[in-house]
Amino acid sequence: MKILVTGGAGYIGSHTVQSLLEKGHTPVVLDNLVYGHRDFLRRLQIKDFYVGDMGDHALLRRIFSEHKFDGVMHFSAFAYVGESVTRPDLYYRNNVMATLELLDRCLESGVRSFVFSSTCATYGEAQSERIDEQHPQNPVNPYGRSKWMVEQILKDYEHAYGLNHVILRYFNASGAHPNGLIGEDHDPETHLIPLVLYAAMGKRERVQIFGTDYNTPDGTCIRDYIHVCDLADAHILGLEKSLEQNKSYIANLGNGNGYSVKEVIEVCRQVTGLPIRADEAKRRPGDPPRLVASAEKARTELGWNPQYSDLKTIIEHAYGWHRNRHG
Ligand code: UFG
Repeated sequence: MKILVTGGAGYIGSHTVQSLLEKGHTPVVLDNLVYGHRDFLRRLQIKDFYVGDMGDHALLRRIFSEHKFDGVMHFSAFAYVGESVTRPDLYYRNNVMATLELLDRCLESGVRSFVFSSTCATYGEAQSERIDEQHPQNPVNPYGRSKWMVEQILKDYEHAYGLNHVILRYFNASGAHPNGLIGEDHDPETHLIPLVLYAAMGKRERVQIFGTDYNTPDGTCIRDYIHVCDLADAHILGLEKSLEQNKSYIANLGNGNGYSVKEVIEVCRQVTGLPIRADEAKRRPGDPPRLVASAEKARTELGWNPQYSDLKTIIEHAYGWHRNRHG
């Protein structure tokens, strides 16, 4: 299959590009390189690569005139929850409006399925131990709302124009490809696992634990960490299934296991064998206490079977990557 991958130079996008290559598909990447990494694409030897914004009409038209796509995988988006609260304009313009442009080109050129990178942030506060796809969606920040809006648009486009979608709601993407070529590299970095590993590696003095008074067994927030390669595979399965069955799918992607911030730090200590200074700090605004997926639907409907569900393996892969990149 020939697939357009927007945001293909980013963290989850680049791992999906790698996975597409491994399975013999042809990815064509569009990325504006604001947060993406040109060297990732060089390492993966991607030839079909366009640098530019999705809001660039002429560029989008050119890409769609130069290629006939079997499907589109749409990763490019701004994804800093805190920034979305202070600059919602950026999030609605980049995450919602630019997606409309892309959808126009998809309709014009007869693309049959659109895979969308959504998030558990569309659920807001969890009302159950494990969140399934029927859980109410009440996003609590503009980032989550921008993703929720695109989900609604996709449902309307399916109804009106017959464009199928695969909406994948990720829990906490983590880890790195075991080939050592690509991994997590955000600037600024805000995610827990890389920050803990930076503290282990001496790149930072310490890590802060944001809140120790949550209503959880050790008082720190619980998340469901899912390996980025497993996320990548779900996109390909989803697209294949959607094209085969001529259907749309919506699925959570997580392991169904929750780990607290303190547990993550402890596993990082075990994996690295290094001391890690962790200081207790105030809660970070907007953090729900517990987000754990029920991902049965992805398993039963898409045939998804995560390979790296063990947190230790996820952290080993992340540590291998960060040591190569920053060691
Ligand atoms: N945390 C710390 N210290 C840090 C960084 C994070 O204690 O230095 C805590 C957070 O408070 C949170 C947990 O570690 O409880 C995980 O935080 P991350 O920033 O790694 O991930 P989030 O769960 O906040 O964010 C993820 C995705 C977002 C998505 C969100 C949905 O990265 O894109 O889930 O809630 F919006």
